[in-house]
Amino acid sequence: MFKGCITLALLMVRDRRHRPLRDLRISLTDRCNMRCTYCMPREHFSGEHAFLPKSEILSYEELAFIVDALVPLGLEKIRLTGGEPLLRRDIFDFIAMLPSELDIAMTTNGLLLEDNAIALVAAGLDRVTVSLDAVDIETFQAMSDTKAKPETVLKGIEAARLAGLKVKVNTVVRAGFNEHSVKMVADRFIGSDVIVRFIEFMDVGETNNWNLEEVITGEQMRNMFDELTPLPPNHVGEVAKRYLRAEQEIGFIESISKPFCSDCSRARISADGALHTCLFSSQGHDLKSMLRMDATSDDIAEAVRTIWTSRDDAYSEIRGIVEKEKVEMSFIGG
Ligand code: GTP
Ligand code: 5AD
Ligand code: SF4
Ligand code: SF4
Repeated sequence: MFKGCITLALLMVRDRRHRPLRDLRISLTDRCNMRCTYCMPREHFSGEHAFLPKSEILSYEELAFIVDALVPLGLEKIRLTGGEPLLRRDIFDFIAMLPSELDIAMTTNGLLLEDNAIALVAAGLDRVTVSLDAVDIETFQAMSDTKAKPETVLKGIEAARLAGLKVKVNTVVRAGFNEHSVKMVADRFIGSDVIVRFIEFMDVGETNNWNLEEVITGEQMRNMFDELTPLPPNHVGEVAKRYLRAEQEIGFIESISKPFCSDCSRARISADGALHTCLFSSQGHDLKSMLRMDATSDDIAEAVRTIWTSRDDAYSEIRGIVEKEKVEMSFIGG
């Protein structure tokens, strides 16, 4: 037992800031059935936009091969993202291929959740995080730039809960769009076990016209509530700051006003098979070519070990000081 722990500690990888690689976020597709203004603005992601062809997207077998190779490096958690991951066909087959000892979560916009919740649980999904920026139809449709209805997402959330998934809700808050939704979204989940987290509008990608005036800080959001009691983090590197309010837990993700890079243990794989060591990266490391040239599991693990060991990313801490071109969030996954 003790010897096993030492072996594991030796295999675990740390970057230049001593951060482990615990969390792998896999983008299953760069497509989405919403066009959230802060993520895939329609003027950039319309019919003209070149989405990835199928041949460029990693197969489930290729993705599972990467995951298996990275488990010995210290991987604990997998998050399936997109785009919208539920648009990818036969996603249940992929979930069933993942090692069951890992925490397996998904980020979804919830539009297809109601019909799929039971099958997701049966395949081995543990948790789901559903994006919901407003509960009133006007604000919801303005934020997501769709004709979809918030009720569809709410039904998806309820189906996920009933199927046995742990559910969180993510609400991005953008000034001039949905600041009035902060309390309304929180209130909607009072008395349930759904945890709502409010997210500062971030400067991801190059297309969302981000500017600081449109950021409502976590502190401004907290001031919208009467009484909040801080809760300790569940684990090192937890992204959300947790608070207890009336009968519910809520959280704030404050990447702009309170960067959390110092404990960031997240790696991302884009749908076309590149490893990105930061959400704000300009370029990924091509794993797909390695895989398609018959790399072994050890080759992949060694390549990722080398990439991670030289990682020094801390974009949110140096925002505004260093200018760089950034990949889109729908491409590398939230
Ligand atoms: P769990 O703790 O596993 O529930 O997930 P999480 O807290 O990592 O939350 P989730 O994956 O849902 O991330 C929530 C949101 O936080 C994302 O949609 C992003 O907006 C933001 N976020 C997540 N990871 C990062 C990160 O590494 N950097 C920055 N700047 N923002 C992040
Ligand atoms: N700022 C903050 N969060 C964002 N997301 C996407 N774009 C942004 C942005 N510009 C996050 C949201 C959404 C998830 C898929 O990605 O949390 O729920
Ligand atoms: Fe789609 Fe999610 Fe991006 Fe909205 S935030 S456009 S739902 S990937
Ligand atoms: Fe991690 Fe980059 Fe986000 Fe910092 S900005 S928390 S390094 S992904």
